[in-house]
Amino acid sequence: THQWRGLIEEYRDRLPVSDATPVVTLLEGGTPLVPAQVLSERTGCEVYLKVEGANPTGSFKDRGMTMAISKAKEEGAQAVICASTGNTSASAAAYAVRAGMVPAVLVPQGKIALGKMGQAIVHGARILQVEGNFDDCLTLARDLSDKYPVALVNSVNPVRIEGQKTAAFEIVDMLGDAPDIHILPVGNAGNITAYWRGYREYAADGLSTRKPQMWGFQAAGAAPIVDGAPVLKPETLATAIRIGNPASWDFAVAARDESGGLIDKVTDRQILSAYRLLASQEGVFVEPSSAAGVAGLLAKAEAGLVDPGQRIVCTVTGNGLKDPDWAVAGAPQRPDIVPVDAEAAAHRLGLLD
Ligand code: F0G
Repeated sequence: THQWRGLIEEYRDRLPVSDATPVVTLLEGGTPLVPAQVLSERTGCEVYLKVEGANPTGSFKDRGMTMAISKAKEEGAQAVICASTGNTSASAAAYAVRAGMVPAVLVPQGKIALGKMGQAIVHGARILQVEGNFDDCLTLARDLSDKYPVALVNSVNPVRIEGQKTAAFEIVDMLGDAPDIHILPVGNAGNITAYWRGYREYAADGLSTRKPQMWGFQAAGAAPIVDGAPVLKPETLATAIRIGNPASWDFAVAARDESGGLIDKVTDRQILSAYRLLASQEGVFVEPSSAAGVAGLLAKAEAGLVDPGQRIVCTVTGNGLKDPDWAVAGAPQRPDIVPVDAEAAAHRLGLLD
């Protein structure tokens, strides 16, 4: 009887829903805010991880999707479409079939993680691999939703942002106030927009005494906001944020400037190193893109740019199981093969030394 009810029911009075809205939910939200011991030690701060990979389809996209699909159903849509680097499509597919709608997804050919493709397939989405990147997929999805009877559920759909802002509410509800700094990866820039909206709303209503600085990090090969111009051929191993022309660019810049924060970039090497640290020392397995924020925090701390004693929340956006190739590829050695023999096994495990 005390189960979390999903974010629409938990935050109903702060979301654009009414009694006429059919709530399509997989009980998303209510994700763990895990104290990060090693990151806290390294920075001298009190660092938390908001583990969004714990959502039903394994990423923060479920927060926006419960809203987008519920509203699409309210409006009578029978089919939905999205462009995606993989997580939005996995989420859209799951929520659409739950609502009895047909999901269509457009993904960049050959550039989405296998786990995410598997999700779209198993949920029964109609999948097109587009000969282009994410930005091309989004252009195509917008065009299709303009011309044909299919509802667009990308984060250019404003109710997506409304759903995603609830993550900021949860953090303030849990900590008793907003943190000093909130850090997250930036791709299409919907999530940084959503968190900033959530923090602003709580502060305006007196539910927090302050707002955090927003720190966003892009991948170096796909950093249009940092570089100040669209990137025509974005490249990064962090495929979820391989985006050259973010739809919410202006909102991200506003979040940065209004909060006194920053948007910077991290290299693929820094991303992988943070990815391994999170898994091997914090016990939290995220997908590479999700580690971009943590990589940014570590880089800023090493440069002496993080004052100790602050409270910092890093959103880790997606589950590591979505893209396990990077875990396996980076393994120092393949697991040994042993006979069913305790002494042999103990020897290989180094227990005899
Ligand atoms: N982290 C993950 C795991 C993502 O999947 C995304 C975006 C981001 C970070 C960046 O968030 O776009 O709001 O700035 N994924 C989208 C998708 C583009 O299609 O799944 P953003």
